[in-house]
Amino acid sequence: MDELAGEAERVAAVLRVREVRVRRDLERADLAHVDIVRRNPFASPDGEPVRLPWPWARAGQSCLWDSVPVAVDDMGDAVYLRLPGKNVLLGGEPEAGKSAALSLLLGAAALDPWVNIVGLDAKRLELALWRPVLSRVAYNSMDDAIGLLEDQIKDMDRRYELLERAGRRSWGRSDGPLTVVAVDELRFYTANPNRRAAAHFTDLAIDLMARGRAAGIVGLMATQKPSGDVVKTSLRDLIAYRWAMRCTTRDASDTILGAGMAAAGYDASDVDVNARGVGLLHAEGGMPRLCKSYFLDDNEIRSIAARGAALRRLVAGDRVI
Ligand SMILES: Nc1ncnc2c1ncn2[C@@H]1O[C@H](COP(=O)(O)OP(=O)(O)OP(=O)(O)O)[C@@H](O)[C@H]1O
Ligand SMILES: [Mg+2]
Repeated sequence: MDELAGEAERVAAVLRVREVRVRRDLERADLAHVDIVRRNPFASPDGEPVRLPWPWARAGQSCLWDSVPVAVDDMGDAVYLRLPGKNVLLGGEPEAGKSAALSLLLGAAALDPWVNIVGLDAKRLELALWRPVLSRVAYNSMDDAIGLLEDQIKDMDRRYELLERAGRRSWGRSDGPLTVVAVDELRFYTANPNRRAAAHFTDLAIDLMARGRAAGIVGLMATQKPSGDVVKTSLRDLIAYRWAMRCTTRDASDTILGAGMAAAGYDASDVDVNARGVGLLHAEGGMPRLCKSYFLDDNEIRSIAARGAALRRLVAGDRVI
């Protein structure tokens, strides 16, 4: 495997391609994955950064039980996330593109009028454009954030009672709507100088992420400076989708993707500093994929949030009748 990887540069020169990538299979030492990259799919022909339009930007409505398109990988294939039963962790340095990627998932949730979306927005402005579709939001108050999580946990317990009565083990389409709990930025809460509050918040988040998966609750969390004190291993291990945008260090990358990933060749600190929205997306059971997220500008977000709010009013009206 090392010999093959050592020859990659020579093979690329012979093939006259941009890059030949050799990666060891994580499960089997006798298997290697070889990717031949002809051009940088994340740059326009003149080398300028590109913005990939989100395929659902103009959709009238969505269903969050369906897979959501979030990115294009370096082979040009669309990348989808299937959110029910899963949590998502986005990490990376400032301006890496975490909130932009989070916006795609919030956009998909916004366009499904039955989804209940709550937000924790420590910087107050990250989720601001989504406010029309947020049923509740907490800002930089630890008390408010803890109160919000406690109420979500009460709702989760009610869902478990319903499931128990129905003799079912996990929340399905027919059981009721999905709930999305979006946190931007996690670090403020889990590494808050108020240590007791931070520890309490982390415990609640772990409970919600652990038991919420089977109760139709989807956690979406973004954080700068991912490190062990911000994202405890016990929290990270509950998260099926880990998305590392450019990180400053290998350790930060491993905090998101999992220990040993950088050594295995999956290191988000290798991402080009100018390549906003480019990162490694690791879905449980698979291998991390280098991809670039689609992008929604502020006007597109406003328009989606307005459509989502109008859909919610319609659905609420239906309920009254
Ligand atoms: N997928 C993308 N395609 C093109 N440009 C992008 C993409 N994602 C982010 N950008 C650019 O990078 C900027 C920063 O992105 P974003 O606000 O998502 O970063 P962040 O990681 O949330 O930063 P912070 O940690 O400061 O909150 C955006 O305003 C946009 O200009
Ligand atoms: Mg952000």
